[in-house]
Amino acid sequence: MNSLLDDEKGVKEKFKIIGGTHLRGRVSVSGSKNAALPIIAATLIYPVVLRLSNVPEIKDVKNMFEIMEDLGAKITRVKKNFFEIDTRNVNSFEPNYKLVRNMRASVLFIGPLLARFGKVKIAQPGGCFIGSRPLNAHFQALKELGVSIKECENYYLLKAQEIKSGKKVVLDEMSVTATENLLMVASKTKYTKLRMAACEPHIEDLCKFLVKLGVKIEGINTHNLKIYGSKRVKKNIDYKIIPDQIEAGTLAIAAAVSRGKVEINNFISDHNDILLTKFKEIGVNFEVKNSTLFIKPSTNFKATDIRTDIYPGFPTDLQAPMAVLLTQADGTSEIHETMYEGRLNYIKELRKMGAEAVIRDSRHALISGPTALFGTKISSYDLRAGATLIIASLIAVGESEIDNVPFIDRGYENIEGKLNSLGAKIKRIKE
Ligand code: EPU
Repeated sequence: MNSLLDDEKGVKEKFKIIGGTHLRGRVSVSGSKNAALPIIAATLIYPVVLRLSNVPEIKDVKNMFEIMEDLGAKITRVKKNFFEIDTRNVNSFEPNYKLVRNMRASVLFIGPLLARFGKVKIAQPGGCFIGSRPLNAHFQALKELGVSIKECENYYLLKAQEIKSGKKVVLDEMSVTATENLLMVASKTKYTKLRMAACEPHIEDLCKFLVKLGVKIEGINTHNLKIYGSKRVKKNIDYKIIPDQIEAGTLAIAAAVSRGKVEINNFISDHNDILLTKFKEIGVNFEVKNSTLFIKPSTNFKATDIRTDIYPGFPTDLQAPMAVLLTQADGTSEIHETMYEGRLNYIKELRKMGAEAVIRDSRHALISGPTALFGTKISSYDLRAGATLIIASLIAVGESEIDNVPFIDRGYENIEGKLNSLGAKIKRIKE
């Protein structure tokens, strides 16, 4: 596969967006980033050849594939969003240093490589700038399974003579990737009980994938999992990744805030219950039929408070996009970001556009509205902040210029193509 880290090769990309569009038309949600990443990693647990469909073609996935190939896996793009993965010849337990440093999600290599080789040497993962993201929940739980952990320079070295079976492991906190790593390691134990597990839709998807391979898991969708592992599994399966909960929410917010009329297909409303509850409070006009969300033009929006939480609470990944809707709502809304201490930086950019918003501290902000937004030069600090600024630019008067587009490409498949198909005016500029 080609290297997709264009930003590293010195190509800088920006979005130029002319605002004032009411989005109209039909759009489909792509496969889930946060399900695809652990599922791709999980193909390393056993030597298998299998096929994954509905894989989002985003930079994080391509980065993940590059690391897999470097470890010895063979990845074939059969057709768009459909990949065959062959992990029979994987012979390394050391994911590429530089690639790992570029992506926080590469922490997901820890579980499968430990399960396969009993050891893994991995750089401290990098990623977006949204706050310190320690790995204590991962490490504390892995130690319970007999894994020793050494930190040397910028590497972690994790080893286990044997992964212990029959253990009850209680996670320090309901961390998403820690739950996923533990599920992958436990897939090679006879039996593991995992308490305080996170239960986001992407974790459910990883569980279903492991079950399809032959691992038995009880308690899927809850915080208490029982994993009955297997030394050997089915080697030739097909699996379809679920639609992306966060992309679905992002598109819904963009459609609502633009006072558009948009049909969003592959929208699993059960995954976005709390978003739809907030839409009702705010006064967004919508209807759900099967797996389609219909956003209809709305008149007035009312302020509401948002407090991020673990699933099924309000997802931190939709906190920033939602703030744009709140700039258009009548009254003052409070945002409480409980997960990350660096996820309110986008507010500085919204203020440049005319939003009446105050950051009270690293976790609290107030937004008053409705205020008109104006196009200007703005920077995306992370993936979700980038999507937020796109939404703000869609309704802004005049032209906006957003830099750091590679952050947005990490997690949204063809975002400008999708929005332009709804009438947005977004141009990608290469410098
Ligand atoms: N945390 C700790 N110690 C740990 C692990 C986490 O203190 O050992 C803290 C973090 O610092 C943070 C919070 O717990 O405050 C959430 O961390 P979690 O481990 O749940 O996050 P993650 O597994 O690293 C996944 C998603 C994120 C998403 C969070 C929360 C993937 C690949 N990433 O990250 O997605 O924000 O769960 O839902 O699944 C994104 O898609 O933009 C994104 C950042």
